[in-house]
Amino acid sequence: MSDIKIKITDREGVQHEVDAPTDMNMNLMELVRSYELAPEGTIGVCGGMAMCASCQCYIDSAHELPEKSDDEEAMLAEAFYVKPNSRLGCQIHLEPTLEGLEVTLAPES
Ligand code: FES
Repeated sequence: MSDIKIKITDREGVQHEVDAPTDMNMNLMELVRSYELAPEGTIGVCGGMAMCASCQCYIDSAHELPEKSDDEEAMLAEAFYVKPNSRLGCQIHLEPTLEGLEVTLAPES
């Protein structure tokens, strides 16, 4: 087991500090789902294909994240509530460098 701590603020504004495994090939969207921090059916709608933006979140900490793929850029270009720090949670793989990451879930669109 190698867990990191991630702080996730849900759509009600409540912050949760959760343990995130880095050895299970999980992404941030799956993590939010596994802790049920957003109602079923409102996050991860496309199954993590960068095609729905239901997993959009805002990156609140100063972590360096991998560049967005073209698919992620394209999806964010047409999503609602997009900010400069928006990312698609399903495109963020949980890895040790994300220790202490802080994110806020974007509103449901
Ligand atoms: S789950 Fe659909 S874009 Fe991330």
